[in-house]
Amino acid sequence: MGASGRVGGGVARALGAAGAAFRVGLRSPEKWTEPSGEAAYFDLAAPTTYSALQGCPRLFLMWPPGTTTAQVGALLISARAQGIRQVVFLSILGAEKVPALPHRRIERLLERSGLEWVLLRASYFMQNLSTTHRDDIKRRGELFVPAGRGRTSMVDAQDVAEVAALALREGHARVAYDLTGPAAPDYFEVAALLSDELGQTIRHADPSALEFVRLSVLRGVALSFALFMLAEYTVARLGRAGRVTRTVEEVLGRPASDLRAFVRRERDAWR
Ligand SMILES: NC(=O)c1ccc[n+]([C@@H]2O[C@H](COP(=O)([O-])OP(=O)(O)OC[C@H]3O[C@@H](n4cnc5c(N)ncnc54)[C@H](OP(=O)(O)O)[C@@H]3O)[C@@H](O)[C@H]2O)c1
Repeated sequence: MGASGRVGGGVARALGAAGAAFRVGLRSPEKWTEPSGEAAYFDLAAPTTYSALQGCPRLFLMWPPGTTTAQVGALLISARAQGIRQVVFLSILGAEKVPALPHRRIERLLERSGLEWVLLRASYFMQNLSTTHRDDIKRRGELFVPAGRGRTSMVDAQDVAEVAALALREGHARVAYDLTGPAAPDYFEVAALLSDELGQTIRHADPSALEFVRLSVLRGVALSFALFMLAEYTVARLGRAGRVTRTVEEVLGRPASDLRAFVRRERDAWR
């Protein structure tokens, strides 16, 4: 799932690099132009497309915002009936503490499904800086997040994808991996690092909650997404997003990517 997106795309790249056979389930399979992997039509909102799982022993599962946990439940029932044995699910760091979170509800579905499961509880993706916040950084020279001095143990989504691919290939089971980067900078430090690497001044604007929602909506962000981000950055502001783990290194046998290496690799995004 999600092979046209960040983590799913990375999972496909990692499986392809390892020479593994795999299928990508996409709403637009005709757009799949990678040399490895076969593409099938799959839409979580359309149960008739769940036949895309036929013949696959393992599934990479992510929850696309805009879909429902009930749809994921239906997919898991179909997956089991079609012979899937293991599901590797992309969740969120700390999900186990928030029962109402869709990701936690899906974790619970998996734990009760009779399938083998791996939970990838990922911290904030570094890639949010080169996608969601790209224009603020590029056009306005500012990091517009209401996180104060709160620290975030941001992780490279490519590392998350590589852990997923390895868990699929090696058949890991009944384990939750808390995946973070190697450090937890605050956003003043992130802005300083971006300034240093991009050769221009980027400042951490640190808006108030109200200012963040008001200006985000004025700049074209959907209110629901602005409120979701506010909740996420408030967790950081309150000092609850800074926990660093060594799980990426323990699973992959190499250090997790750090933010500077990520910014160097993605530099063109902000140019
Ligand atoms: N951003 C973060 O910091 C962060 C951190 C931890 C966890 N997460 C979680 O990671 C997940 C997002 O992963 P991502 O960033 O890799 O995704 P992404 O880049 O936003 O891409 C979303 C993917 O979902 C697919 N999709 C959308 N609707 C679908 C549907 N109805 N049926 C099947 N596929 C559908 C899209 O495919 P199409 O080509 O069909 O649109 C696309 O491949 C979310 O659950 C998020 O909560 C995010």
